[in-house]
Amino acid sequence: MRTRPLKVALLGCGVVGSEVTRIMTTHADDLTQRIGAPVELVGIAVRRPDRVREGVPQELITTDATALVKRGDIDVVIEVIGGIEPARSLITTAFEHGASVVSANKALLAQDGAALHAAAEQHGVDLYYEAAVAGAIPLVRPLRESLAGDRVNRVLGIVNGTTNFILDKMDSSGAGYSEALDEATALGYAEADPTADVEGFDAAAKAAILAGIAFHTRVRLDDVHREGMTEVTAADFASAKQMGCTIKLLAICERAADGKSVSARVHPAMIPLTHPLASVREAYNAVFIEADAAGQLMFYGPGAGGAPTASAVLGDLVAVCRNKVAEATGPGESAYTRLPVSAMGEVVTRYHISLDVADKPGVLAQVATVFAEHGVSIDTVRQQGKDGEASLVVVTHRATDAALSATVEALRKLDTVRDVASIMRVEGE
Ligand code: HSE
Repeated sequence: MRTRPLKVALLGCGVVGSEVTRIMTTHADDLTQRIGAPVELVGIAVRRPDRVREGVPQELITTDATALVKRGDIDVVIEVIGGIEPARSLITTAFEHGASVVSANKALLAQDGAALHAAAEQHGVDLYYEAAVAGAIPLVRPLRESLAGDRVNRVLGIVNGTTNFILDKMDSSGAGYSEALDEATALGYAEADPTADVEGFDAAAKAAILAGIAFHTRVRLDDVHREGMTEVTAADFASAKQMGCTIKLLAICERAADGKSVSARVHPAMIPLTHPLASVREAYNAVFIEADAAGQLMFYGPGAGGAPTASAVLGDLVAVCRNKVAEATGPGESAYTRLPVSAMGEVVTRYHISLDVADKPGVLAQVATVFAEHGVSIDTVRQQGKDGEASLVVVTHRATDAALSATVEALRKLDTVRDVASIMRVEGE
C-alpha cells in the first residue's frame, strides 16, 4: 500500500460536488483500500465562497480554479461545474500539469470530446466521464470495457429524467404537456427554464457520447438529429394506447444495416408497452443496448441528482487513482472505425401519422396513392368518422425519414386532407 496520498482538486461544489466531498470524507478508509493509496481532497474551487455548504471543509474553498489546477502536485481533477468555458480551459490546464480528469460535463464531452481525449493522451493522463451520461447508471465503462469485444448495433435510451417524468404524467393522468410540466416544476424535476430538457438538448449531448463510444467513431452534438417533446399531446397518447404503445423521448443510436454508417437522434417516439423501456416511470433513466453476441441488455436507474451522479464520479475517481498508482492509464478514445454519421433523411423506421380528412368516397384511395408514390408501404389504417370529416391513422412499414417527409408534404397539398394532426415515429418493435 502506497502511503503518499493522491491529491484531488474539485472544481464546483453544487449539488454533485457537495456529495462528492461528503462521500470522499465518509468513505475515506474504503477508498484507500480500494485504490491502494490514500486520497486527499486538497482544494475546492467555487464561484460563491460565502455559500453555506454543509460538511464541506471551508479551508479547502478557493475562488481561483486556475491556480488550483496549476499547482503542479494535483493527481486528479474532478470537474463538476458544467458548461463549455471555463471547464474546457481548466481541464486542458489540468492535463498540462499532469492531472487526470474525472468530468460530469456532457455538453463539453459531446462538443469537444475528441480534442480533450487527444490532450489527455498527449500528457499521459486519463479522462473519465461516467457521470456525464445518465447519472448513476454505469454505461460508459460497460460500453468501453465490458462490451469492448462485442459489436454494438443499437442503443435506445431514456436519458432525460425531466422529460420522462412529464411524459409519464401525461400517460398516467391524461394531462396535457403544460399541466405535466407545471407538476414537474413544482416537484423540482424541471428547472425554471426547462429548454435544455424539453427541447432534447440534454439528451442529444448524451446520445452523441453514447454513439461515439458504442460504435468506436466520432459523433458530435451537431451530428445528432434533435426534436423536443413540447408538441406531444394527450391525443397522441390516446392514439398510442390504441396501438398498445406509450410515448417516450428516446435517444437512438444505430449502426446502419450495411454497417457503413451510424446515426444518432433524439425525438419522441411510440414504443410498444411490451418493450422494457415502456415501463420506465417517473424521472428514471434506462438504456437498452443490442449487441451481436450479448443480445439485449438493459441498464436502469436514477439519471440525475447529487448522490447518484456523485456515485458515478467516485467510481471514476477510484479507477483513475488506481491507474495513477499503477503508473498507467486506462482506455482512451476508441474512434478507429471513422464511420460517417448519416443525415436524418437516411434513417429508416416506422411512422404513425394522424390525418384529419374529408369523409367522402375516394379519399382513402387518394391518401394511399400518395404513400405508394413515395415508396412508403402502409401497415395499418384506422378511420373514425365525425360529421362529414374523418380522422385517419396510418401506420407504415419501415421507410426512410426523407420518404416519409416527402409523403407528408404531398398529403398536405391534397384538398381532402384538412390537417396532418401528428407524425410520430414508432420504435422498439
Ligand atoms: N436534466 C437532466 C435530466 C439531468 O432531467 O435528466 C442532467 O443531465
